[in-house]
Order: sequence, then structure tokens, then C-alpha cells
Amino acid sequence: MTYVNITFSVNGSDVSSSVLVRQSLADFLREDQRLTGTHLGCEHGVCGACTVLVDGRAVRSCLMLAVQADGTSITTIEGLTNADGSLSPLQQAFMDNHGFQCAFCAPGFLLTAKELIDKGSPLDRDHMRAELSGNLCRCTGYESILNSMEAAIAAAPSGGQP
Ligand code: FES
Ligand code: FES
Repeated sequence: MTYVNITFSVNGSDVSSSVLVRQSLADFLREDQRLTGTHLGCEHGVCGACTVLVDGRAVRSCLMLAVQADGTSITTIEGLTNADGSLSPLQQAFMDNHGFQCAFCAPGFLLTAKELIDKGSPLDRDHMRAELSGNLCRCTGYESILNSMEAAIAAAPSGGQP
């Protein structure tokens, strides 16, 4: 088995680690970093549950190798909370607007939503629906997820952190 040393940032903390060259980023985050908020559903790029931000862009961590994370900055769902452990405005918007039930899909939706909001472009409902169409939810219903995202956009200061 071949291992490679990589260095990157996860949720603001620097990490140096030896990783198996064929290990997925999702498995590395869950098993080596114990960041189990990154969920694995399909494990082949369909459901979006494993979405994390890599340098601010939403990426399916089941399709990315951990070695490809070398030199990047990664945000997982654990990194969305405020420093004091309270919910970020984006998380609170999903909570207040019934944006999840079992919450298996929620980390993927939240991080996809964060990327879109951070871009700062105006998002109407049709645009949001298209942008979130790569994430699957089996129990909430997509309307409440869209309502949550609309509420988060309304609450976010221009250019601020949702
Ligand atoms: Fe990665 Fe489904 S687990 S897209
Ligand atoms: Fe259960 Fe989306 S809240 S899968």
C-alpha cells in the first residue's frame, strides 16, 4: 500500500497526515479526522450527501481522493457552526424553516447552499432549485429546503457569512 504525506486546512485547523493514495476524501474526513458529519449515501456521486467545500467550492468528497486535498482549505458541516458552538445563521434558517427531518442529506444541502450564498449573486427560487438539484432528500420535501435557503439569503448581510 502506498501512502503520501499531505498538508491542508480543515475547518480552520492545519492538518498534516499520511494518507493512502486510493482513500477518498470522504473516508479520510470520517475515519481519520472523525468528522462524521460528512455523510455517505450513494458513494458514487449521485446523492450529494458527502458534499464539502474545497477552497470554497462544493465538492462531492466521495469522488475526490484525499491526496487531491493537499494544499487546500476544506470546510465540513462541523465548520459551519459559530466559534461558541451555536448554529450559524444558515443552519438556524434550516432549523426554523423545517429544512430537514432525518437530516442525513442536510450537510450536503447546507454546504451547497453556503457556496451559492457566498458567491453573492442574487438567487431566485428557480435558480436555487436548479443549483440544489444535485442533492437528494428522501424525507423533507424540497419546498421547505428552498424556504430555508430563501430565509438564509434574506438574513445574510451582503457579502457576509450565512
Ligand atoms: Fe457522495 Fe452520494 S455519497 S454523492
Ligand atoms: Fe432525511 Fe433529507 S431530511 S434525507
